[in-house]
Amino acid sequence: MKQISVVGVGYVGLVTAACFSDLGNRVIALDVDEQRVSNLRKGVMPIYEPGLEELVERNVAAGRLTFTTSYEEALKGSEFVFICVGTPSGVEGEADLKYVEAAARTIAKTMTAPLIVINKSTVPVGTGDWVAEIIHEARPKPMDFWVVSCPEFLREGAAISDFMNPHRTVLGSTSREAADKVAQLHLPLRSPIVITDLRTAEMIKYASNAFLATKISFINEIADVCESLGADVKEVAAGMGFDARIGKYFLDAGLGYGGSCFPKDVKALAYMAEDMGLEPQILNAVMRVNGVRRMMIVDKVRDLMGGISGKTVGILGLAFKPNTDDMRDAPSIDIAKALIEGGATVRAFDPVAMEVAKGEMPKVEMMPDAYAVAKDADALIIVTEWNEFKHLDLERIRDSMREAVLLDGRNIYQPEQIKDLGFRYRGVGRGYNGSADSHIKTEVKVQPNAV
Ligand code: UDX
Ligand code: UDX
Repeated sequence: MKQISVVGVGYVGLVTAACFSDLGNRVIALDVDEQRVSNLRKGVMPIYEPGLEELVERNVAAGRLTFTTSYEEALKGSEFVFICVGTPSGVEGEADLKYVEAAARTIAKTMTAPLIVINKSTVPVGTGDWVAEIIHEARPKPMDFWVVSCPEFLREGAAISDFMNPHRTVLGSTSREAADKVAQLHLPLRSPIVITDLRTAEMIKYASNAFLATKISFINEIADVCESLGADVKEVAAGMGFDARIGKYFLDAGLGYGGSCFPKDVKALAYMAEDMGLEPQILNAVMRVNGVRRMMIVDKVRDLMGGISGKTVGILGLAFKPNTDDMRDAPSIDIAKALIEGGATVRAFDPVAMEVAKGEMPKVEMMPDAYAVAKDADALIIVTEWNEFKHLDLERIRDSMREAVLLDGRNIYQPEQIKDLGFRYRGVGRGYNGSADSHIKTEVKVQPNAV
């Protein structure tokens, strides 16, 4: 059992604190936001993450997890401190490190014993060295400390599972001994642990996110070609995914990526490259392809409705992805804005994110469920693929709409099934643009002796 401090109790920090305490460590989680800390002490979560409330409650009750706004209280007796503060995009796309600097400086001034400082926030390559300089200068007196990079690979909506079952743990440091101590914290997770230098660890994080974003922009470009040539991108992706070198994940065509990570991390990596005088051609293409996906769906709904002004459009799903309330860079924000600017009335439903979404889209009427959104609507758009939208009573939906127009931004339906119900349906890359082409259902025959 070790004592660990976590600075920054957001999507990453709170999951990190709760999971390390669940592994049996004593964890003190700090945040500068007093309201957030006060709510957590009352068992009120600042974010929606499946399973998090119960995990926090159990470990607080066991006395392994506490929350504070005091750095003294947080660091006293701790051997490790994880920095999990926000690293938002700056004006030119570079990562804004003011919060990391504030945390590092305060840690330096407050520490009273040797400390391993671990960067979990996504930070540009070279930040580990920079944090070490800050601590070295800000310490009131010489005291041993070591900096380790331990990037997070948590998907929102699956963060606890991703923490407890990581594909790998990446650790970078100038001190092998410090890295080994942090590795010890992760041994119960029984996953591969990559130990390398600071800059390599920091780059592994950016390169991983940028590659996943590249897969998404790649399949979205293929989707556009599929629509022109009459192929079904969903089946194309399935056929591709059997190749282990390609893999079946992150090949879902649709509205492209949003959230607080991919957009900012791809931008930051491109910025780092350009800052070194390089031209990140692929990264720039990934961002360009992703940048047009949202308006593509608005164009489709305009085509199918014969215009936007005076129409009523329903949006199903607001969060940037399912199983989260996170609205950061959510496609729904841009889509709702464009529809409203085009003169449409917009109604929406999201199972979890409506409270957060209200602030981002004040003119959108929030409805109690999907059926209320569909009533008297001229079109319905699936923006976030929540499971509950996959088995709606589509006949009831169709009969309650003014026009049976369905835009499936995340390809959760089968085109021929929807067209047979009498909808005018458009997906993303699902055969010819809106044609009623006969859709041969792809079969997968696994030969008995297939390996
Ligand atoms: C953040 C980064 O956005 C992400 O790139 C990185 O991989 C992990 O850290 P996230 O947890 O989503 O992810 O950040 P956010 O939800 O904004 O939480 C940051 C928390 O840090 C907030 O609660 C904020 O109050 C707190 N904070 C910020 C501090 O405690 N101290 C500070 O100086 C600044
Ligand atoms: C991502 C990375 O997956 C995670 O490893 C990293 O630590 C943080 O960033 P997250 O942003 O929470 O996690 O969500 P993710 O599930 O990766 O989806 C990111 C975006 O890509 C979402 O907007 C999602 O809708 C979109 N996406 C994802 C696609 O459009 N197609 C896909 O096939 C997969």
